[in-house]
Amino acid sequence: MCGIVGYVGQRPAQDLLLAALQKLEYRGYDSAGIALVENKSLYLEKRAGKVSDLMRVLKASRATVGLGHTRWATHGPPTDQNAHPHCDCQKKIAVIHNGIIENYLPFKEELQARGHIFLSQTDSEVIAHLIEERYDGTNLLEAVREALRPLRGAYALAVVATDSPDEVIVARQGSPLVLGLGEHETFAASDIPALLAFTKTMVFLNDGELGVLRRDGVELCDFEGRRITRAPQRIEWDVVTAQKQGYKHFMLKEIHEQPHALANTLQNRYELATGKIVLPELQKLTEKIHKAQMVYCVAMGTAYYAALTAKYLWREFFRVPLAVELASEFRYSKPYLDENTLVIAISQSGETADTLGAVREARARGASVISIVNVVGATLTRESDATLYTHAGPEIGVASTKALLAQLAALDLLGFFIAQSRGWLAPEQTRPALESLVRGPALIEKLLQQEREIVRLAQVFYEKEHFLFLGRDLLYPIALEGALKLKEISYIHAEGYAAGELKHGPIALIDAEMPTVVLVTKESVYEKVFSNIEEVKARRGIVITVTDQINKEIERVSDFIIEIPPSSRWLAPLLFVVPLQLFAYHIADLRGTDIDQPRNLAKSVTVE
Ligand code: F6R
Repeated sequence: MCGIVGYVGQRPAQDLLLAALQKLEYRGYDSAGIALVENKSLYLEKRAGKVSDLMRVLKASRATVGLGHTRWATHGPPTDQNAHPHCDCQKKIAVIHNGIIENYLPFKEELQARGHIFLSQTDSEVIAHLIEERYDGTNLLEAVREALRPLRGAYALAVVATDSPDEVIVARQGSPLVLGLGEHETFAASDIPALLAFTKTMVFLNDGELGVLRRDGVELCDFEGRRITRAPQRIEWDVVTAQKQGYKHFMLKEIHEQPHALANTLQNRYELATGKIVLPELQKLTEKIHKAQMVYCVAMGTAYYAALTAKYLWREFFRVPLAVELASEFRYSKPYLDENTLVIAISQSGETADTLGAVREARARGASVISIVNVVGATLTRESDATLYTHAGPEIGVASTKALLAQLAALDLLGFFIAQSRGWLAPEQTRPALESLVRGPALIEKLLQQEREIVRLAQVFYEKEHFLFLGRDLLYPIALEGALKLKEISYIHAEGYAAGELKHGPIALIDAEMPTVVLVTKESVYEKVFSNIEEVKARRGIVITVTDQINKEIERVSDFIIEIPPSSRWLAPLLFVVPLQLFAYHIADLRGTDIDQPRNLAKSVTVE
């Protein structure tokens, strides 16, 4: 939800800010803007549309200090006026903001009563005017600190002022912000990949902290003005991984990276010979894990479907009753929480506001939190008692793909670890599951080779307007994920259902125009799902069967079949989801949608 970037250095800032903004566009892409400070004046340009639209209207500039913003609208539609940066009345201060200022309205009214003219409908513009009233042209950091004090909500923001031409002030409360350190230059951005081309030495700002970026480094302090020292971290992601590398879209590249994402997440975390799970990052929670009487799993979107899948496996193999909840509901549903409760929070970005909210609530009430996160140093990792990283690498496409496979693998490892620590599962009993999981990357590689067939299937179906996805048991969450992938990138209406639910309502939708994708595995309730296919066929529905069990019966009732290699209950969800991702991708590609940046969506949902 909005991407922000700031720079102070010796290079021309404009190109650098634009390059970073293009990397951040996945966070929001309905408008973009830039503010540059040069010769004590402000050059500001902002536009509704993408960063490329902004680039077309920019004049050349040699400024070496500036800010850039790409927006995902919350307050006010995507227009030129509502685009960031926002300015004070004198046009001497420029502010970019990611987040929501919840109590902006009374401040806006008071400022207007004092003669401030507002040009936008955003919540963010009040920040520029509040700073203006507190800035005497000397201490910009102090003015920002004072301006932010009464504001409530979430923000990562950056500020420049013509009277402080060699610095950028940044602040963070609830929205992500990372600072980069280079040779005589410093950077700020919403996310690591935006800065990877310039530096790999980064400092993470925490909530309640401000920073001053200067050419010779960054200075941090808290909202009380106390100095903070924090050692920089070296980020090992490389620039190449964060590029498309010849793929038409990031999403397609990330689908193809899944064998690696899975292998990397499993790597060095088990001993195959003994079946022992090795997760030193969780060692400090051993006692809590022993005592836990209640285990919740909270997440949103695709990460939630990973949790739903784990629910079946954990119940079956680990004797852990896992309560899986949407993080956005958990917090407001008066959950049972105490010091014997363990909460597992899953998030690719580690910045999802709903998931962070659930975790904060859980910890405030004594529970311990283990997070499963992909982005190194993300807020969620700092707000958890322990983190199990998924090593999927940067996921840039807005629709989550490889992160899901990595989450499923991490949840398996975590389940084994908990069951082994509590003595419910001997390491040697874990071996068959591990042996199956380690075959995953090769089997996914094999599945990816069927892409041409899936393209052909997409060519048959891309003009349909409604789809149904059915699955049962472990494949029910995968059916939900298949429907989510299709709707978010192709804008086709798709619904995922537990196959058993078919007769309880959705069957009314079936006709000769409505394709139904049915997931069938020999591993579980095969006959029942088979009967569901018969029910669809009896109503002249079109059936696309995704299955690891091809036989005469399946061939008779299916209009099309996607074959999955036989595996195990551990691996089946990871395999079945791959063709569904490819199907959604190629349908969207044929429909010509903006696959990496689908309308109305953003990669990290940092507002509730
Ligand atoms: C779907 C998708 C979203 C995210 C959800 C949670 O393709 O990407 O549903 O899964 O917004 O995001 P994270 O995992 O970053 O918390």
